[in-house]
Amino acid sequence: MSILITNIKSLVQVRENCPPFLAGKDMKTLPIIENAYVLVDNDTIVDYGKMDDINGLTADQIIDATGRIVLPTWCDSHTHIVYAGNREQEFVDRINGLSYEEIANRGGGILNSAKTLQNTSEEDLYNQSINRLKSVIKLGTGAIEIKSGYGLTTDAELKMLRVIKKIKQDFPVKVKATFLGAHALPLEFKDNKQGYLDLIINEMLPKIAKENLADYIDVFCEKGYFDLEDTLKIINAGKQYHLPAKIHVNQFNAIGGVALSTKHNAVSVDHLEVITEEDITALKNSQTMPVALPSCSYFLSIPYTPARQLIDAGLPLALATDYNPGSTPSGNMNFVISTACIKMKMTPEEAINAATINGAFAMGISNEYGSITKGKKANLIITKAIPSYNYLPYSFGENNIETVIINGKIFA
Ligand code: NIG
Ligand code: FE
Repeated sequence: MSILITNIKSLVQVRENCPPFLAGKDMKTLPIIENAYVLVDNDTIVDYGKMDDINGLTADQIIDATGRIVLPTWCDSHTHIVYAGNREQEFVDRINGLSYEEIANRGGGILNSAKTLQNTSEEDLYNQSINRLKSVIKLGTGAIEIKSGYGLTTDAELKMLRVIKKIKQDFPVKVKATFLGAHALPLEFKDNKQGYLDLIINEMLPKIAKENLADYIDVFCEKGYFDLEDTLKIINAGKQYHLPAKIHVNQFNAIGGVALSTKHNAVSVDHLEVITEEDITALKNSQTMPVALPSCSYFLSIPYTPARQLIDAGLPLALATDYNPGSTPSGNMNFVISTACIKMKMTPEEAINAATINGAFAMGISNEYGSITKGKKANLIITKAIPSYNYLPYSFGENNIETVIINGKIFA
């Protein structure tokens, strides 16, 4: 099965020799072909060029994209979309004056979601999760990382990871699974953190590895959650099972998690709402992708990751949603890109690079995803008729996406 998309107003993020990620000034580049075509054969991009050079090329299906923009699909490298229920009551509690921290200290927050998930069947959890997944694919997401971390018991963490595995099997989007057992300390371990770390390391991890349920390991490295020493233990345990790290750091406090993560070759460090000079230095001497989650900042009214400071220091930056029930009940990458432009002063070019090729790097798949490159997977967004790619972040809150192609097939 082949598809030829013709009369494309601009084909965006076309890179003949695509680098694994873009950093610093290079993030301002966004190669495009005006009045273009792109040819897909089975699940692969095989050709593209100007309409003038189409030379009688044809395919099983032709899509006329007159007035439309075509881009690679978004690569959302940080989500928690497998969860049960919601936390709308905590949302109202925050409006009425309680802080995120106060809610968590009362047994709300992550522990609230864990209790609900523990009492939800695997089948129900799968059904709730795929509803969210389908809606984000329709919004242009073609690759997604999904974390565990709302189980917090061996059975419930395995349940979450099995749901992620079933999603991998049942959906054409690229899925990466991350084990986040160290997301919060369960009440039973309130005075025995070492006991919970032992459970993660000696019981959960071996089972997860045996069933091949995770690609990465994560820790919520934060005051009141897991400190540097805990984080190091988990990172080292992950190494034993060949699980590279992607770490939640610097959401509320900078406690040294960035330097620890880069030292251990983490694939990414995520959140970074608070950043120190030491963090920047650590990132400069590393291959670790910093990841910003602006819709989390929006929803919690906390600072935005200082994107300008990072990019102007020559660093790369990726953008992701953090879709989860507590801090970001939204998986809309288009909103993330708008917010990055509006609140973090990223240019549309920087934001699109951050949401495509750099997001792909943050989940280890930038050789196959994140740009329009011959040989890469045919994961494409066709917009509605819009004036230019700038219009995507400009018209915030609007759905400008008409068609999404995943692995060479229209996602319906
Ligand atoms: O990435 N910060 C840690 N974990 C999630 C939110 C957890 C929750 O509130 O449920 C996050 O923001
Ligand atoms: Fe998160």
